[in-house]
Amino acid sequence: MSETNEHSRLFLPSKSSPSTSTTEVTISWSNLHVETRNSSSSCWSSISSSCFRRHKKKQEKSRILLQDVSGTARTGQILAVMGTSGAGKTTLMNALSGHYGDNLLVPSGNVYLNGFPTTDTERRKSGHIGYVEQQEYFIDTVSLEEHLIFQAMLRLPSEWTDDERRSRVKNTIAQLHLNKCMKNTINQLSGGEKKRLALASVFLTEPSVLLIDEPTSGLDSYLAMHIMDFLSSQPTFHDH
Ligand SMILES: Nc1ncnc2c1ncn2[C@@H]1O[C@H](COP(=O)(O)OP(=O)(O)OP(=O)(O)O)[C@@H](O)[C@H]1O
Ligand SMILES: [Mg+2]
Repeated sequence: MSETNEHSRLFLPSKSSPSTSTTEVTISWSNLHVETRNSSSSCWSSISSSCFRRHKKKQEKSRILLQDVSGTARTGQILAVMGTSGAGKTTLMNALSGHYGDNLLVPSGNVYLNGFPTTDTERRKSGHIGYVEQQEYFIDTVSLEEHLIFQAMLRLPSEWTDDERRSRVKNTIAQLHLNKCMKNTINQLSGGEKKRLALASVFLTEPSVLLIDEPTSGLDSYLAMHIMDFLSSQPTFHDH
């Protein structure tokens, strides 16, 4: 988790050819621990003489969000993380993907790709981990297709031609049953269509490890089943 781990290095092939099959990657993690930073905050107390009285700064204790969590997800496996609301599922996904919403959290522990320790930055930049966050943010006024073309321009390797990028976008739209709304602007999409767009944005690059926070939220039971079938039909699952 540390950004200064001298032993960590990138060791996986870069993703370049449009027809490459997904690289086999096992992700494992050990002793992940995330807690909030100690902070001091002003403390306001009871009304006195018709105004709030401010007390001196109070030290807030840090709160543990993840405690010594270890695990492994091998190539070809679908691993479900289940827990009550607030149990720490999103915090775990953020830790594995190397994304933290803010710098108010103190993480420690190790995340390995194919057995090699990695830093948060390496995992974010490796191109091997795709992360569909619980809450995705889009520009409302672009169309679904434009959004994906833009993502393809940004995320696919520079060797790819425009035609190859457009073809990948077209295939991804079809795989996620998004054809009928591809010309809609994002503010015209339903909740389930937005969820599938978030998945499509990540599937574009065919990452080896897919981290999906709440993969079926906002989908009806048919689409939820379709998404799970689609995930398990990915090439990486065929031989396992
Ligand atoms: N940056 C933060 N600062 C302080 N507390 C946080 C922070 N991020 C998350 N938390 C707290 O950590 C706990 C775990 O949050 P997390 O989002 O990981 O839960 P979750 O299991 O994904 O829940 P849900 O099923 O509702 O999405 C929650 O109590 C949340 O309030
Ligand atoms: Mg969550």
